[in-house]
Amino acid sequence: MSENVVEIQDLWHWYLRGTPLQTVALQGAELEIQSDDLAAIMGHTGSGKSSLIQHLNGILRPHRGTVRVFGNDLADPKLDVRPLRRMVGLVFQQPEMQLFDPTVGDDVAFGPRQLGGTPEEVRRRVRTAMERVGLSFEGFKDRYTFGLSGGEMRRVALAGVLALEPRLLVLDEPTAGLDPRGRRQLLESLRTIHAEGEMAVVIVSHDMDVVAELARRVWVLAGGRTVMRGSVREIFARVEELRELGLGIPQVSELAYELRRAGRDVRADVLTADELAEALWTNSTSPAA
Ligand SMILES: Nc1ncnc2c1ncn2[C@@H]1O[C@H](COP(=O)(O)OP(=O)(O)OP(=O)(O)O)[C@@H](O)[C@H]1O
Ligand SMILES: [Mg+2]
Repeated sequence: MSENVVEIQDLWHWYLRGTPLQTVALQGAELEIQSDDLAAIMGHTGSGKSSLIQHLNGILRPHRGTVRVFGNDLADPKLDVRPLRRMVGLVFQQPEMQLFDPTVGDDVAFGPRQLGGTPEEVRRRVRTAMERVGLSFEGFKDRYTFGLSGGEMRRVALAGVLALEPRLLVLDEPTAGLDPRGRRQLLESLRTIHAEGEMAVVIVSHDMDVVAELARRVWVLAGGRTVMRGSVREIFARVEELRELGLGIPQVSELAYELRRAGRDVRADVLTADELAEALWTNSTSPAA
């Protein structure tokens, strides 16, 4: 049974509040995440995505509205956010900023050591987390963190968060700056992590193909508000609205849309190349067509 682990209603947040430079980042945002969710948050640059997710582990507190995460009320100034930080793992938009220890093993071990585990327990968590992101423990534990490639650093940052064994994993633009191979490997890791990890996974992404491949449910922000929500199929079938918001759609959905406009009978909610091939094949062989 899945239950809501995140409930955000009418969330408002200002930066530099009360100064002449005040900007409103969120103005009525909504979000719900279920315990086994695989969700994506999309939106134009500046739409408030990073601000929204920083409320999930209490880096930011709501200025107005409701944020409930695993039953904790983030609007309560007396709330101790430390337990929440263990349950909600956040990988930042620039994961390099999350790394600080000279060796990979120590960097990944930082969180579990803070939790006060025995050396064996710390080692188990580090090994499992590194292997989950495709970094061999023996091969990488003694490597110099800041000599790694961008894609490897991203994996180390993700391993450091996974080593806390969170119940909600949130990644801000996880595929930005990765080459096609790195992107494919990361998506594969995330799928496995979600399938094996008994955790909800939320990604923030500009990359529509990544969203189409990974997410089941999608939330779209514009100007600090939640303007669309639905299953990934429902959202990508709403091509005109997405275009008005300045967002693209996955290449395959785009192609299906153009074929439909040209008079071909193709389903509106095609997401993958296989589905498109099947739709075209079915239509071209159908005697009624
Ligand atoms: N630390 C900050 N100080 C002042 N304004 C900020 C700060 N962080 C974000 N903002 C502003 O808040 C708004 C929302 O920013 P946010 O970073 O949440 O958007 P985003 O959707 O994550 O954008 P991107 O896709 O570029 O990462 C923007 O207008 C931004 O300029
Ligand atoms: Mg951002």
